[in-house]
Amino acid sequence: MTAKIEKVLLLDGVDSVCGEILQKAGIKVTVHAKLSKEQLAEELKSHDGMVVRSATKVTSDVLAAAPALKIVGRAGTGVDNIDVEAATRRGVIVMNTPGGNTLSAAEHTCAMVCSLSRSVPQACAALKAGKWDRKLYMGSELYGKTLAIVGLGRIGREVAKRMQSFGMTTIGYDPMIPAHVTAEWGVESMSLEELWPRADYITVHTPLLPHTRNLIGSEVLSKCKRGVRIVNVARGGIVDEAALLVALEDGRCGGAGLDVFLEEPPTDLTLCQHPKVICTPHLGANTKEAQRRVACEIAQQMVDMMQGKPLVGV
Ligand code: NAD
Ligand code: MLT
Repeated sequence: MTAKIEKVLLLDGVDSVCGEILQKAGIKVTVHAKLSKEQLAEELKSHDGMVVRSATKVTSDVLAAAPALKIVGRAGTGVDNIDVEAATRRGVIVMNTPGGNTLSAAEHTCAMVCSLSRSVPQACAALKAGKWDRKLYMGSELYGKTLAIVGLGRIGREVAKRMQSFGMTTIGYDPMIPAHVTAEWGVESMSLEELWPRADYITVHTPLLPHTRNLIGSEVLSKCKRGVRIVNVARGGIVDEAALLVALEDGRCGGAGLDVFLEEPPTDLTLCQHPKVICTPHLGANTKEAQRRVACEIAQQMVDMMQGKPLVGV
């Protein structure tokens, strides 16, 4: 597929290397951090390409108001903020950068697991508030514990590799990856029914799809070991937030590390403010390295497409 691109709108604070690569290839760029829906429609009249992170919602309305648009680039993995079906109907190409932030998201997940095991954020906040409480923050070692990884794609398998070095046993489930392949990564594959009661920690690394929405809900939490810890650095909605709150209260869940939320930013902070919850504002991919990589990759893919080279992503 080849398309001539003349002018690309760069949004959401995409790293400046994106514009540099596009300009070097003769493509004009306009940079805006944030635009209202009306401003976006106005800008898109004179652009045939756009690059977004997650803030800009490329809805069917936005696409309908942009007849010149030929391509939407997502500097990141998930394309949940782009109506891919509507884009496809209009002949607009959607590209993403599936691997560019894998390592950052995996590292953030590991940071969540480590922080949960020793209540690092809670103990830090307490000490800053002048409380020297060593009893309250008695931790537990990760060594010898079992980490269940639901979704063994790019991020899930990197998490496995890293947490094995802490002496964790890694078990997992992914309908697309055969057991003999996951065994090569040191992950024992099993059904979800077998996995729930074995896990000390569960981390999810799937997309948010109809069959993964509320994948971890009340019923599942009742099948887990009492005090299981849950980590979600994938997408809000995979873990049922209301059910998690109840399980945190009644002790079925011993702690949760959340980077993503059903609503971002969350307007109801009950879950975030729970003492057993540690949370970050969707920071999984928020490293200089990952942001530079995804910006570089999306720009290069647009240039490659102009030159008729094979496309990557969705
Ligand atoms: P990936 O496509 O490489 O892997 C996802 C895996 O999930 C696939 O192997 C797929 O077979 C598996 N899967 C699908 N349905 C499943 C199910 N019902 N049960 C178990 N496994 C299932 O994706 P990835 O790059 O590893 O990303 C994983 C998630 O992390 C995505 O939701 C992505 O949007 C998100 N992400 C978040 C951040 C962040 O900043 N927090 C950063 C990068 C990616
Ligand atoms: C992604 O899907 O790439 C991540 O959620 C990170 C981001 O939104 O930038």
